[in-house]
Formats: sequence, structure tokens, C-alpha cells
Amino acid sequence: MKNKSARKLLKFAVSQFTYPRDAKDFLQVFNNLTSARYTRGIVSHVTRETPDTSTIFFKAGDGWIPHVAGQWARIGVSLNGKRVWRPFSISAAEGHDPSITVKANGEVSTFLVHDAEPGTLLYLEEPSGQFVLEETPASILFIVAGSGITPVMSMLRTLMPRRPDHDVVLLYSSKSREDCIFHDEILELADQFPGLKPIFRFSREDGRIDFSDTGDIPRLCPDYQDREIYSSGPDSFVSQVQDMAILFGGESRVERFDLTRRTSASGNGEVYFSKSGETLEVTGADSILEAAENSGRQLPHGCRIGICRSCLVPMTDGQVSDIRTGEVTHDPGLVQTCITRPAPWVELDV
Ligand code: FES
Repeated sequence: MKNKSARKLLKFAVSQFTYPRDAKDFLQVFNNLTSARYTRGIVSHVTRETPDTSTIFFKAGDGWIPHVAGQWARIGVSLNGKRVWRPFSISAAEGHDPSITVKANGEVSTFLVHDAEPGTLLYLEEPSGQFVLEETPASILFIVAGSGITPVMSMLRTLMPRRPDHDVVLLYSSKSREDCIFHDEILELADQFPGLKPIFRFSREDGRIDFSDTGDIPRLCPDYQDREIYSSGPDSFVSQVQDMAILFGGESRVERFDLTRRTSASGNGEVYFSKSGETLEVTGADSILEAAENSGRQLPHGCRIGICRSCLVPMTDGQVSDIRTGEVTHDPGLVQTCITRPAPWVELDV
């Protein structure tokens, strides 16, 4: 309650400070006043999409590099006196002010969904990621689940107005109509742009998508083998799309929104931190990052699911295995501690 009043007071003070300037002017003033390492953004408005998902629109300050549809950016917020970062897919079309569409399932996302409001300050890193459209895309099949719609929405908002008759099938799985982010906007886009064919799948009513070669995909999109396939969603979901594409000799571009561990990548291992001379035991299916945190050590990190590369540290000896695939790497170089574990011993230059 106290915090809410303080925020209201701050908001009022900011409005007095900014009036009659707009948010961009405010950021300019702010940027000039503070020597900052990071680009800042200021929330312009927030839209509730589903009971636990909101879109946060923001104005980005000097230094922001415009995103390409499908990319994500690390966004920082101040929580309990600490700046905390997480990566979020950008849902806005290219060339527009950025927005992120966020589901509340962690401390940063819960803050953004429930507490962000016009005037909330954000810290921004530049957009990144390879999950982007080809320059001249052929016919496309998007296969997405849950929050995986966010980068794809940026692609649809960008692509369809540019090429209204472009042949795009969107197969979009969500738990229910209530959980289906952007449902109405997608239907409106399809009305406006005849090349877009959305197919909604509500798993609570219709069951999960069957990716076998006699399953749902050939029935829902008979020419799927002739299309570029983009898939975005939970790891287990996009892995099925990848397996399906491999089966017919095709390819798929994927973006994962969580981490599935393979049991083959578990067991006991040991990490030697060469700078501190300390040794860390890693057990079960823990990643190096998790084992370090459990023992009270701090290692750099961001998304914790292998996307943002904030957790890269130099490996100087030994080998690591990828907890998602079991793949072993022994060449010295940078390793992502959030998705690797010692196999069974590794030396990190930390
Ligand atoms: S923390 Fe993001 S890739 Fe490891």
C-alpha cells in the first residue's frame, strides 16, 4: 500500500516534470542528466491481453537500435533495490515503438504484468536473436504454442501489411480461448490480409497437436512440406516440430521459451574455478549455474534457458555436456553455464 502511494506520488511528480513535453523529451532530459551504461525506456502504456499476460509498450531512449521482427531484448527493472534482467520477445512490428508481451511466471515478468504503468523506467539492451524472417520469405507455416506467439506476432504485423497476399498459415496452440494471446487481432489481420490463414487449437478442448506424419499437420496444412517452418514455444513443443521437419527432410527455425532436460545429461560432476581456486560439485541434472547458486556463488546470467548468452564464461580445460541434448563439448572457449554441466570435470576461468 505504501509503495503504491509512493509510486502515485512519483508519477505525479514525473507528470509535472514532463508536461508539456512528451515521453521522448523526458527521456532526452533524463539521458542528459545521467551518465548511464544502459539505454533506458519508459513505459507509455500497458494492455492486458489475458488474465496473466500484458503487453508493455515503451518509448526507448537514445542508443536503442530498432528491432527486426522476431528478435528479443534483455530488459532490466529495479526490484527491491536491485536491477534484474530478463530477455523478452518484442511483439511490435518493425519500425514501430517497441512493445513486449509478457506472461507472469517469474519475478520480473510478474512485476511487468501487474505493476508496470505509464512512467515505469526500464533498462534496455539492444535487440538480438536469429529467429527472424528470410529477406524474401516463401510460403510460411508458423507453428506456435502459448507465449511463443510473441515473436511471431511481430513477424505477422510486419509481413502482412508489406505483402498482403503472402501465403501464411498460422497454427497456434493455447490451453483455451481465454489463454489465447492476440486471438482477436489475429482474426482481424486475417480479415484484412487474405493470405493469412490462422488455425487455433485449444488443447483443453481439442487435445495436443499430433505431429506424427499421419497426424494433425498433414490434415491442417496439406502442403506443409513445401513451406518454410517457423516454430516458437516451449522446448518440448518446438522439438517435436524439429523432429517432424527432419523426418521429411525439411528444416525449421525455432525459438524456445523454456528448458527441457534430457536424463542422459545427469550424474555427478565437478567444476574447478581457476581464478578463485574453488571446486564445485554438480549433482543430478543441475546446470553449472544452478549448482553455483545453490552453493552461494554468483555467476552472470539472464534468461536461464540458453537464449540470451549472458551466462557465457571461458572454459579452459575439461568438458561440458548440454543438459538439453546431452551433447558434449571439449574445445576450450565460451560455455553457457545455464545449459551445461561438467562431463564429468571442467575448468572455468572464473
Ligand atoms: S542465462 Fe541466458 S543463455 Fe544462459
